[in-house]
Amino acid sequence: MKADFKHKDECRICRSKGLKKILDLGTMPLANAFLKKEELNKPEPAFPLVVYFCETCSLVQLADVVDSSMMFSDYHYLTSASKPLADHFCQLGEEIARRFATNRDDLVVEIGSNDGVLLESIKDKCRVLGVDPAKNVVEIAKKRGVETICDFFGEELAEKIVKKYGHAKAMTANNVMAHVDDLHGVFKGVKKLLADDGVFVFEAHWVGNLIGDGGFDQIYHEHLCYYSLHSLKHMTELLGLKIIDATLVPIHGQSLKVYVAKHGEPSRQVADLLKKEKELRLDRIETYKAFSDKVESNKIKLLKLISGLKAEGKQIAAYGAPAKGNTLLNYFHLNGDTVSFVTDTTPLKQGLYTPGTHIPVLAPEKMNEMLPDYVILLAWNYADAILAKEKALRDKGVKFIIPVPEVRIA
Ligand code: TYD
Repeated sequence: MKADFKHKDECRICRSKGLKKILDLGTMPLANAFLKKEELNKPEPAFPLVVYFCETCSLVQLADVVDSSMMFSDYHYLTSASKPLADHFCQLGEEIARRFATNRDDLVVEIGSNDGVLLESIKDKCRVLGVDPAKNVVEIAKKRGVETICDFFGEELAEKIVKKYGHAKAMTANNVMAHVDDLHGVFKGVKKLLADDGVFVFEAHWVGNLIGDGGFDQIYHEHLCYYSLHSLKHMTELLGLKIIDATLVPIHGQSLKVYVAKHGEPSRQVADLLKKEKELRLDRIETYKAFSDKVESNKIKLLKLISGLKAEGKQIAAYGAPAKGNTLLNYFHLNGDTVSFVTDTTPLKQGLYTPGTHIPVLAPEKMNEMLPDYVILLAWNYADAILAKEKALRDKGVKFIIPVPEVRIA
């Protein structure tokens, strides 16, 4: 595996130099690079995880970019594995087919189509084509009957697609735009591939949520961009594209849902959301400095709590081993000395060790056998569901530490 990354010194959208550092999470391995036992004594590739803000176009971004083939060629995240997410994307597919690709011959192209869930749901209504760089998920999509090109999307691929399939009446990309390093290339590709009356609708995690209740642990090397509508407006205007509509949708906390076209006027909702972002001061560096201070004070609170518990001889484990949990464990330097084990429902992760912190990942049943005094809920985004599901465990005295956005015990 090639351990490689590059540091950029200009903004991904407006190319301004002098990006301002807002949060330095140190150097850490990739959040999904779980280790096998025999890998524990080998050197682990680690990369800087530092967040920057561009004062010109407001894009919050990472400037250290890890070789994308390391992160995306073999991808373990399957959209269909999470039912609520799959349902959400099927609804989006339904909307696209109903509003933008109404004829059987109309083409819909999805960038980062993963295992093809969205496109499969509309493939009987229009022509569909997926694009995804991960071989393993492309194979799954093909088995579902979704034609998929295994590649990164950009201008060159857009030209090839136009030649072979014609222009697209609709394009979509969901939870993918955060991964894009060459944003200009992707938007230029969209412009090339989209029909004159076509629409590109995409969803991406909203920076307003990240700095509010979203939690800093959404920050990891895969996520290069943390968008506001302000920054996206800047991007589309540079290429002569228009944002014609935008809303916030309750997925991954809150995500931006943005509609881009070659022509048209922005809806009222676009103005409303831009106004909301102004009120939240998402275009001001002070906002992000305050966020960074909050992360720091939360870290101090959690570490104080944990060292107090350890001093009392309590056993501490963790619940869930999401990618975000690895940002938290590494940034807080919580390793196997402090956290005895972590359980996770994903069979692929069980038997492995957390990247950087080397905590063994066990099957959920182990929690009942080991009955630790406290568990740090790393999958805190599912806190309500997990606390309800684990009533029996809590009745046996196991306490949950919810680390983000504010430390609390349940
Ligand atoms: P997810 O929130 O999708 O996170 P990320 O994108 O940060 O990887 O992943 C949640 C993780 O938590 C996943 O590995 C499965 C695990 N999990 C449990 O172990 N138990 C549970 O009850 C739930 C809901 C999730």
